[in-house]
Amino acid sequence: MNCRHVASARALVALILTIAFTVSGCSKSQPTSQTATQQSASQQSAAPWWKHAVFYELYPRSFADSDNNGLGDINGITSKLDYLKQLGVDAIWITPCYPSPQVDFGYDVSDYENIDPQYGTLADFDRLVSEGQKRGIRIIMDFVMNHTSDRHPWFIDSKSSKTAARRDWYMWREGKGPQQPPNNWISTFGGSAWKWDPTTSQFYYHYFYAEQPDLNWRNPAVKQAMFDTTRFWYKRGVAGFRLDAVDTLYEDPQLKDNPIKPGRNKYGDPIDERINNTKLPEVHDTLRELRGVADEYNAVLIGETWTDNIDELKTYYGGHGNELHMPMDFMFTEVNKLSPSEFRRQINAIQSSGGWPVFVLSNHDIRRSYERYGDGIHNDQIAKLMAALYLTLRGTPIMYYGEELGMQNNDPKRREDVKDPIGKLGWPKDKGRDGERTPMQWNNTANAGFSTAKPWLPVTPTYRTHNVTDEDKDPDSILNFYRRVLALRHQHPALLDGDYTGLNEEDPNVLAYLRRAQGKNLIVVLNMSAKPQSIHLNVAQQNIASSSPLKPLITTGHGVNTQTMSGPLNLEPFGVFIAEVSQ
Ligand code: NOJ
Repeated sequence: MNCRHVASARALVALILTIAFTVSGCSKSQPTSQTATQQSASQQSAAPWWKHAVFYELYPRSFADSDNNGLGDINGITSKLDYLKQLGVDAIWITPCYPSPQVDFGYDVSDYENIDPQYGTLADFDRLVSEGQKRGIRIIMDFVMNHTSDRHPWFIDSKSSKTAARRDWYMWREGKGPQQPPNNWISTFGGSAWKWDPTTSQFYYHYFYAEQPDLNWRNPAVKQAMFDTTRFWYKRGVAGFRLDAVDTLYEDPQLKDNPIKPGRNKYGDPIDERINNTKLPEVHDTLRELRGVADEYNAVLIGETWTDNIDELKTYYGGHGNELHMPMDFMFTEVNKLSPSEFRRQINAIQSSGGWPVFVLSNHDIRRSYERYGDGIHNDQIAKLMAALYLTLRGTPIMYYGEELGMQNNDPKRREDVKDPIGKLGWPKDKGRDGERTPMQWNNTANAGFSTAKPWLPVTPTYRTHNVTDEDKDPDSILNFYRRVLALRHQHPALLDGDYTGLNEEDPNVLAYLRRAQGKNLIVVLNMSAKPQSIHLNVAQQNIASSSPLKPLITTGHGVNTQTMSGPLNLEPFGVFIAEVSQ
């Protein structure tokens, strides 16, 4: 088949998919079937789908291996859609599965419009989309906007000569002198952010690895090509994108040096304050344009937005809500202790921002929450407590695969075992991100049932107890707790659309809040301490009588000995109490 035939075959597939959606009465990113509970919930509300949805991030290398070669794949994901549906997932975000030399495990893309053969084919991907639609599960792709792989044909052309057609698609500059980069910018993955290339005796810029040259977003042709790749996937039925590294799209055109702070970072480099190569205002112009394209397809844009404060995060929603639908609030992930006051501060800040909050506990770059919050004694209980928190707040949660099992990090023990290049560079201070990317734990057989071949990363030893099959049978497991909370979240108007009011905000041990909508009140009470707590909820300002009856919906441990709001409410260590309050 020549290129023209491939292109027309692709166009035909896209056309068939579009017709299929139209015939079923759905917009392009609207799945055709939903469970009864989800249907009734969304029918009652005018909220856009992504506000009611639960998102689930999965790392394709590690989720499910259909061909038993030790690497996960697209058909593996498709085979687990029923598991995800039963869990209560509405959309999956797949980290990059495009063709890639895999230096940064997919975040170095060499073809934006295909699937890496390691993971399958476009036909496999189309099947995933359509099987997802049957179950009401949308597919979100990862859009690596800032850089390509150095093996991408665009870069190969760009580096070939100073007059190459795509020379200006990347950032090429003269050095300050022989062997001297154009300025003092440091790559976030170690060393200078400039690499000298002997072919044309110039340096190119790379914020991440040298194998990930930055695209020049000031070039309109780059914008056009990149926007078109999003259209390619929307036409295949993709419901949106998670945008990688949006902060770093633009650089100061004069390439001014960054100020240098005292000390050295974990890779031994000077610490530069990235004021000239991150968060430039031009980022927002591009996000608005990208949003325009997404709106043509009713798609959602989720941002990898690392911000220092809420004002910065607010800018990513756009002045008129015309940039990202869902910028992630990573400040929430930085509360690395069970501190009600710290969580309150973050929750109140994002709730007052005017934007729709997006909560994440961990991901493929952030150590697993089981590790970060566990005290070594009550870890399973704490995993439930954290689930009860981020799944009942006002906003959209993005889960990370395996969190629902209580998966732990499995950090490499020896430098020679490390796969993530920054782990080799930073060893032993920084062991890289392998630990949070290990295979999903499906059962207690060899390799956690992920594969019959040796997996690309070793499974975490806790798979013997923390796995889908065993937790499925245990009514008290973390998995079944997640299922219960997610089911409640899909059914209860107060959790879907309700406002958020903090209760007992001075309590140093217990985080409590009220969610209410359509005359329904729900309270969430979380004991973040290792001691039993007995509290009286202060709802005097909330128009709720202390004699109001309580209907417990989800509790951990032995439950709570109270029938009405007058309490007291006795909570076990790390206990969870979620109840409906009648007025
Ligand atoms: C952010 C991604 O989450 C991370 O995994 C990756 O290494 C960098 N961006 C570079 O693409």
